[in-house]
This record gives sequence, structure tokens and C-alpha cells, in this order.
Amino acid sequence: MATLENILGRAKKDIISANDLTSLDLTRVKYLGKKGELSALLKELGKLPPEERPSQGALINEQKKELVELLEVRKLEIRARVEEDKEKSEFIDITLPGIGSSTGALHPISQVLNRIENFFSSIGFSVVEGPEIEDDYHNFEALNIPKHHPARAMHDTFYFNKELLLRTHTSPVQVRVMEEQKPPIKIICPGRVYRVDQPDPSHLPMFHQVEGLVVDTNVTFADLKGMIIQFLRAFFEKEGLEIRFRPSYFPFTEPSAEVDVSCVNCDGKGCRVCSHTGWLEVMGSGMVHPRVLEYAGINSEEYTGLAFGMGPDRLAMLRYNISDLRYYLDNDLRFLDQFR
Ligand code: DAH
Repeated sequence: MATLENILGRAKKDIISANDLTSLDLTRVKYLGKKGELSALLKELGKLPPEERPSQGALINEQKKELVELLEVRKLEIRARVEEDKEKSEFIDITLPGIGSSTGALHPISQVLNRIENFFSSIGFSVVEGPEIEDDYHNFEALNIPKHHPARAMHDTFYFNKELLLRTHTSPVQVRVMEEQKPPIKIICPGRVYRVDQPDPSHLPMFHQVEGLVVDTNVTFADLKGMIIQFLRAFFEKEGLEIRFRPSYFPFTEPSAEVDVSCVNCDGKGCRVCSHTGWLEVMGSGMVHPRVLEYAGINSEEYTGLAFGMGPDRLAMLRYNISDLRYYLDNDLRFLDQFR
């Protein structure tokens, strides 16, 4: 009997301290399994005097039943706790603030290039690109800028060697297109250009240009004016924007004109942005020089052309009121975030 009490005492302790179903089952096997301690005790009944056997057998069986019940209760407790832990770990607090991921946006220069391309595509222009590493012939010679021409001084050029250079403007793409295509030609050429320059608020050694070229029979200066006026009014979203064509000189156009708009900052009254002139210079333009047509193999008696070239970096500065070109390259999110 002492043994029975001892076994029961240990069994109850083990049941209570079992914290998961596996150790609880091990406890069950340890006491109630075929080779368990209580079963072993039952087998020993035979050693008792016959008159004690029935009462002892009944006692052991009663205790066995109690243990089975205790095991069952503990099993339910463990299951309930496991369930509760699971619920706790899976709980999602939908009242917490979200983490939120912000979307990227196009760089202001890309946005301006897109606006320019969309406008010109809508009036029938194709968008063409050319190489940034150019040869002297396409960047200068074929544009009527021979060696020692004073215009070369304005294009502070990065040379790789005597022949190869980083293009100083997008005008060489005109030449490449005319060499390959017969008129009618109606293209714009956006892209990066390079000039030796120390970065400052209005200069970068790498910037952008968009070149325009139309070659056909009967292309006139009136076509050039009309197109440019429409474009600038659309670009600055100002119906009454004043535009003037000022006689100028480019080796590859004749006649040539620089295009000014009334200052978008002060409406032409005069301010710091326009150096108190009321006007902002926004692009170069002109009628393609007959020699440039001939260089590219186009008969200048039959065809005429108009061309223009603009700087999207500067156009973006004016449109968005940006005071320093270097912001474009700093990758500072405080700047870029304003253009979402
Ligand atoms: N290529 C000129 C420059 O880089 C810009 C330019 C002026 C282009 C007049 C043209 C044009 O097509 O007609 O300064």
C-alpha cells in the first residue's frame, strides 16, 4: 500500500507539471502503460493472500480511474493553453498605423523631356536618338563648323582623341538622320550633351538638349515661328506668353534666330531672373544652312529645312522655379519629392 501511495503521489505531480501533450503522454505511459508502474502493481496482486486480492485489486483500479481522469483534465488544460497562445501570436491589431511604402516618381528633367516629346509627337514628329560619343565630322564639320571656326570656342569640348569627342550638342543627330533618311523629315532628338565647365548654379558639364528638324519642300521661316510659338505657350501653359525672335548667328542655320519669352517670373516687368530685361532666352533656331543639307546629301535647291535647339534643364528651371542646376544631380529627396 505504501508503494501504491508513493506511485500515486509521483503520478499526480508529474501530471500537473506536464506542460505539453508529449510529456503528458509519456507520464500516462509511465504509470498506466502496459509496462507502467500501476500495471506492474496489479500483476503483483498474485503474491497477496487470496482474501486480500479483491479489495486491493478494486483499490488499484479505482486509483487508476482517478489518474485517467486527471490525465484527461490536464490534457484539456494544455490544449486550451496552446490554443490561446496561438491566438495571441496570430493576433493582428488592425488599429495600428500602417507602415506605408512610398512610390517613386520621374526626375523633373524626365518629366520635362516627356512634355516636350508629347507635344512634338502630337504634331507628327518622330523621336530619334543619337550617340553621345561623336566624331568631329558630325559634331562640327558637317554642321558647317570647320576646324578653327570661332564657333568651336563656344563648345568647350571633351575630346577622347583628335577624332572622337563627347557631343557638345544634339545637332549632330540632325546630320545622322539626314544621311540616312530622304525628306520629308520631321524629328526631335532629345539627349545628354557635354561641355567642359565647372559646375555652378547655371552650368553643368553634362546637360540636356532637344533638337528639332523639319526638312521638306516649301518649309519656311513662318512654319518655324508658328511651331515654336505653339510649343512655348503649351509648355509654359500660358496662352498670352509673349515670344520674340531675335536675329542671331549659328553656323548651321541661315537665317538664325534666338527665341526669347517674356519673363515667366515677372511677366516681363523685369526681375533678377531675367536680369531686369523682361525677356528670357529659351532656344536657338533657324533655317537649315544649304551647306548642311548638301553635306548630308540632300538637294538644297529642292528642299528647305528648319531647325531648333533647346535646353530642357533651363526650361525646367524656369517652369518650376529652380534656382540651381546642381539640384538635378544631388539626389536629395527634399528636392525630388516636390516633383511627384
Ligand atoms: N546646337 C546649338 C547649341 O548647342 C543649339 C541650336 C541652335 C540648335 C540653333 C539648332 C538651331 O538646331 O537651329 O548651342
